[in-house]
Amino acid sequence: MALATLKQIVDEAEKGGYGVGAFNVNNMEQIQGIFQAAGELESPLIIQASFNAVKYAGLRFLDHLMKAATETYPDVPVALHLDHGPDFDRCKTCIELGFSSVMIDGSIDYSSKEKKKPARSFEDNVRITREVVDYAHSFGVSVEGELGTLGGIEDDAAAEKVMLTDPDQAAGFVEKTGVDCLAVAIGTSHGAYKFKEKAVVEVDRVAEIHKKIPNTPLVMHGSSSVPVELTDKLNSFTVIKKGTDEKQGPFIDFLGKRYFMDKDYTSARELVYDLLFKNRLKKTMGVPIESIQQGIQRGVRKINVDTDGRLMITTAILDVLQAQPDKFDPRDYMGPARQAVYEMVKSKIFAFGSAGRAKDYKPRSLKAMRDYYEKQKSGGK
Ligand code: G3H
Ligand code: 13P
Ligand code: ZN
Repeated sequence: MALATLKQIVDEAEKGGYGVGAFNVNNMEQIQGIFQAAGELESPLIIQASFNAVKYAGLRFLDHLMKAATETYPDVPVALHLDHGPDFDRCKTCIELGFSSVMIDGSIDYSSKEKKKPARSFEDNVRITREVVDYAHSFGVSVEGELGTLGGIEDDAAAEKVMLTDPDQAAGFVEKTGVDCLAVAIGTSHGAYKFKEKAVVEVDRVAEIHKKIPNTPLVMHGSSSVPVELTDKLNSFTVIKKGTDEKQGPFIDFLGKRYFMDKDYTSARELVYDLLFKNRLKKTMGVPIESIQQGIQRGVRKINVDTDGRLMITTAILDVLQAQPDKFDPRDYMGPARQAVYEMVKSKIFAFGSAGRAKDYKPRSLKAMRDYYEKQKSGGK
């Protein structure tokens, strides 16, 4: 089994000057598609579960699915990672289960009931992060911290206010916390709605941060490219069903709305209008692959991708169901969804430059990493 730590994977990527994709997972097909791509292209891999993924699938299910994949692909060095760990307890649970890495996101307060979370002070972020680092390192487990806040409107990691990472503060943060890698805020955000007309990613800020902390690999969150072909395709699907209501007569259901075929055809006219003009996704754009590559040239080593996988899966499923509406065996649409994830991950692995890098090194065990951290603590080299 090739369980590696995040520290080793991103340190190797730093040496080789490439980036490694960190793909979010919630179910078996995603895990299989991602591993198949990394296995074929001999790429190291980071597989991550958010705490919402854990809520959805159950920690044990996810953990065993991820571990089944590491056993099936023994030549892929892989870090099993908790994405946006909100507090010490949830990081601890994942460490106890055998994750090789966790992110403690001390940049915002996840306990807030607000949809957009308030930012934490630098001092609070340091305190919360340091506690997780001390605990995790005593098991050889790596830690990703975050400084600065991402925007984003549609997920639980959305901050009230966007604060880009300050390079000087980043140096202080790494020194005080001892994190193995650092997530930086450079203008990207989570989800499908990142930029309206033009992507503005502050790649030069990456270079400035990297100059201050050259030994701490950097992480880019919100890195989905949200390809326009996919959003256009999603908008083009129409799912129409007709029926008859006992009291109100014939109707057509379209995009979650019921249109009654009343005498003056008002409803029918509305339907035609919606068919022609109503889109489900607003106009949006993601992070262009070129911006990610510029980030990699300047020090980004871990690239978080979730939304692109979601878009690929949903498009693949709708493709099947629209062409063959009689299909009801989940394998008929989940199989193509898995294939779509595989293709998406393959293209990212090529773009990030990690293809063929799995052979460069053998994963170090958690015990070896624990000894390494012990030695560091006692001042050894
Ligand atoms: O942090 C954002 C990731 O895309 C995870 O999203 O919390 O909906 O699983 P999620
Ligand atoms: P996207 O929403 O751009 O895929 O970002 C995912 C992410 O950063 C997970 O932590
Ligand atoms: Zn993220």
